[in-house]
Amino acid sequence: MKVLVIGSGAREHAMVWKLRQSRHVTQIYAAPGSDGMASLAECVPLKPTQLRELADFARERKIDLTVVGPEDPLVDGIVDLFQRRGLRIYGPTQKAARLEGSKAFAKEIMSRNGIQTGGHKVYESAQPALEYLGNCDYPIVIKADGLAAGKGVTVAKTQEQAEAAVREAMVAKRFGAAGRKLLIEDFLQGEEVSAHAITDGHTILPLCLAQDHKAVGDGDTGENTGGMGTYSPLPQVSDEHLAAIERDVLVQTVHAMNREDVPFKGTLFAGLMMTRQGPKVLEYNVRFGDPETQSILMRMKGDFYEVLSATVDGKLDTVEVDWDPRAVVTVVLASGGYPREFEKGYKIRGLDSDFGPDVQVFHAGTKRVDGQWYTNGGRVLSVVAAGADLPDARRKAYDAIAKIQYDRMVFRKDIGWRALKAQEGRK
Ligand code: GLY
Repeated sequence: MKVLVIGSGAREHAMVWKLRQSRHVTQIYAAPGSDGMASLAECVPLKPTQLRELADFARERKIDLTVVGPEDPLVDGIVDLFQRRGLRIYGPTQKAARLEGSKAFAKEIMSRNGIQTGGHKVYESAQPALEYLGNCDYPIVIKADGLAAGKGVTVAKTQEQAEAAVREAMVAKRFGAAGRKLLIEDFLQGEEVSAHAITDGHTILPLCLAQDHKAVGDGDTGENTGGMGTYSPLPQVSDEHLAAIERDVLVQTVHAMNREDVPFKGTLFAGLMMTRQGPKVLEYNVRFGDPETQSILMRMKGDFYEVLSATVDGKLDTVEVDWDPRAVVTVVLASGGYPREFEKGYKIRGLDSDFGPDVQVFHAGTKRVDGQWYTNGGRVLSVVAAGADLPDARRKAYDAIAKIQYDRMVFRKDIGWRALKAQEGRK
């Protein structure tokens, strides 16, 4: 089978790596892909936003399955376009992708269907939003309605910070059209988890839980990023809570989308806060998380192609997946300055090191020139390690990182700290 993976980040590199292991897959193309995945996939110079060209390519090359990494093409309707042309593609339709494309739409779905989420208000201009901020309890959360590459969320501890976030989105237009509408949302207390499920609209395959570290700095300090690291499993989430996530969020959402006549197929990724009242949805994504996918696919035992293909065919009930019981940690190596301005073009050393069998290095913002690797983006690499337990996986990940060097490298040194703290507390 020939597979086309759309995207170029470490998430897509991990997908390509996992698809390569499928007994069905004979050839992988990646659009645009990256130098980092070029040994596993043939890279095609098409951007994820070139929907028609991607469909033309899939038809010409007789691609059996297209898998979409980032959200933008899904929100722009790539699945509808491919389906109209009779091409097999994994992911939700444009209407269903609004779950991620519009946070206000997602809130409407949740409130109409009894899915727990934080209280919120929606604003379409700055003045009433600023007035509301005078009467709020803090902290409070300011969210751009549309797609902002994971950077459109501010947790404001003070009125001053909240006002700055509103002005940045609505006056300075930092997020462009995505910030035309803003949600001001109650701050929820608890443990944040990433819950993914693959669904064909009828059957749901929950994937292993992961926890992201969105803030750029250790101890969850500094600005929010696309994600600085993940780990899985989450020993601090009980089986009872896991069952509640599946029953009250994942299954409920898939049913809700069917009831709303917007059936959902693909990856449903709910960002959740585990509160005393149960899991509450912070946001939905309609694709695999980055860097959650790196940890999830490292733990997945089974044929990834079979799962994706069965989903497209509405036969997800015919496949099974097991999980490696070991702990997996993903640490993102970034460029100093990220998620704001950063410099690139620094030489990366050590990528040819022997990292051992339990470590994978997935590329995001890298470039290869004359056999030499250079930094080429905000998030540069994902270093993923499996270990007997979380401390072992962390040790392996950070030992591997010690072999990699480039100027202005930044990474979090505390990935998994919440699980370790919970385990300490239980001793
Ligand atoms: N890591 C969060 C996301 O992929 O949206």
